[in-house]
This record gives sequence, C-alpha cells and structure tokens, in this order.
Amino acid sequence: MNQLDQIDKNKLPKHLAVIMDGNGRWAKQKGFFRTVGHEKGANAVKELVEGCGELGIPYVTLYAFSTENWNRPKLEVKTLMNLLVSSLKKEIKTLHDNHIRLNAIGNITALPKKAFAELHEVMEKTKGYDKMVLTLALSYGSREEITNAIKDICHKVKNNIISIKNIDETVINEHLYTQNLPEVDLLIRTSGEQRISNFLLWQIAYAELYFTPVLWPDFNKDNLFEAILNYQHRERRFGKTSEQLN
Ligand code: IPE
Ligand code: IPE
Ligand code: MG
Repeated sequence: MNQLDQIDKNKLPKHLAVIMDGNGRWAKQKGFFRTVGHEKGANAVKELVEGCGELGIPYVTLYAFSTENWNRPKLEVKTLMNLLVSSLKKEIKTLHDNHIRLNAIGNITALPKKAFAELHEVMEKTKGYDKMVLTLALSYGSREEITNAIKDICHKVKNNIISIKNIDETVINEHLYTQNLPEVDLLIRTSGEQRISNFLLWQIAYAELYFTPVLWPDFNKDNLFEAILNYQHRERRFGKTSEQLN
C-alpha cells in the first residue's frame, strides 16, 4: 500500500502551514546561484498545492517572505519579488482549474507596486472559489502582526468601541491577519532547521510541528504524504489526559 492509500481522509489537518526553507542551500550544494534555488522552490509550491488538493486539505498557508527577509541582499529580494509576479501569472490557471482562492497575510502594502498589483488581481479573480484557501505569507512577521493587533484594540478601547473586560482570545483573533482562517493543525518546516522564525506565533499554539531535513526545492508529494501520516499517528491531547480522549 502506498502512502497516499494509508492516509485517513477523515483525519486530515484542516489547516496546514509550511515554512519553505532551504532554497539557498539547495542551490549552493549544486553550485548554482541562490536564485536558482528560489526558482526550483516555486515548482515545489505547485507540487505541494496539488498534493493538498488531492487530499482535500481546505486551508494551506505558506511562508514565502518574512519581514526579516527584507534584510537580504537587494538583488535577492528583487529576484524573489519578480519570481512572485511570474509565478502568480503562471499559476493563475492552476488556481482556476482547482477552485483555489488565493489569500495573503503580512504587510503586503510594503511589496513593490507590481507584486502588490498582481497579487491583488489574482486574489480578486479567485475570490469566489471554495475548494481551498491558499494563503501566502508575504512581508509577514508574527510580532508585527501581534503589535498591530494590540494597537488596533487599544484604539478601539480609547474610542469606547470595545471595553477592556470584553477583550478575550476571540477578540485578539479577530485583529490578526488570519482572522478568517482556522487554527493551524500541522506546521511543516523543511531544511532541517528547528525554529519558527517569527511565523504564526499565536496561531500555532496547539499545532503539531514536523521538521524534515529535505530542502524545500526537493520537497515532493511523497514527503507531504509522509508528513501527513506522521501527523495522523500523533495524539492531540489539548491539555487533557489520554484517557479523557477515548
Ligand atoms: C527559503 O529558502 C526561501 C526564503 C526565505 C525566501 P532560503 O533562501 O532561506 O534558503 P537557505 O535557508 O538559505 O538555504
Ligand atoms: C523563514 O526562513 C522565512 C521563510 C521561509 C520565508 P529564513 O531562512 O528566513 O529563516 P531563518 O532566518 O533561517 O530563521
Ligand atoms: Mg533559510
């Protein structure tokens, strides 16, 4: 039995998040420029989205560019932004064919005009689809997101729109970029690094974490299915005892 057949379709993560890491090392190992790694990484995104579509995972969130990534060499940032534009142009058909709605989280107004415009256009064109919500985290930083949420809430308190006693987890959720997304069930990070790098800090409170040494450009459907199978063998206790769950 192959891995796909072993997956229990009733126990899929509802929301899968991925830290796509290792493009640079992949290229370096092969003697290429880092940008070649990013290009190959874009192909891996397509494969992941197809795999998630085959399984029926309804929410997929990908860490594509962090607030900290702005500090990379100018040329690399430029290449990544150009790659975003070309990938959006190229893959809009895949989104249409598979009824996938594109969404974005992060400070997307900080993106170059062209990237912002393309992103906006694809989000508009796919907003009616409901088979999967594919969220790209772009110029995304969790600390920035939480800081902005706190500012918004303080502003509302000051203007008597919310009272302090009513601030609860739901209110905080409603002020995050991810307000329309369910909690993350499974977080995958490739490339062997075992850290979160400022991604969805609040939203992964009870996510299962899966780290794999595979570099992002090499991450294929089998690797995805392996991660899902691993996830399905875990017991998510949410603070309870094992006995209570049965
Ligand atoms: C992930 O690969 C892509 C982005 C962060 C944009 P990296 O570019 O971080 O690759 P490594 O970690 O240097 O190998
Ligand atoms: C995290 O990868 C960001 C993305 C995958 C977009 P990095 O390569 O930027 O993370 P660090 O700096 O190694 O922690
Ligand atoms: Mg990296």
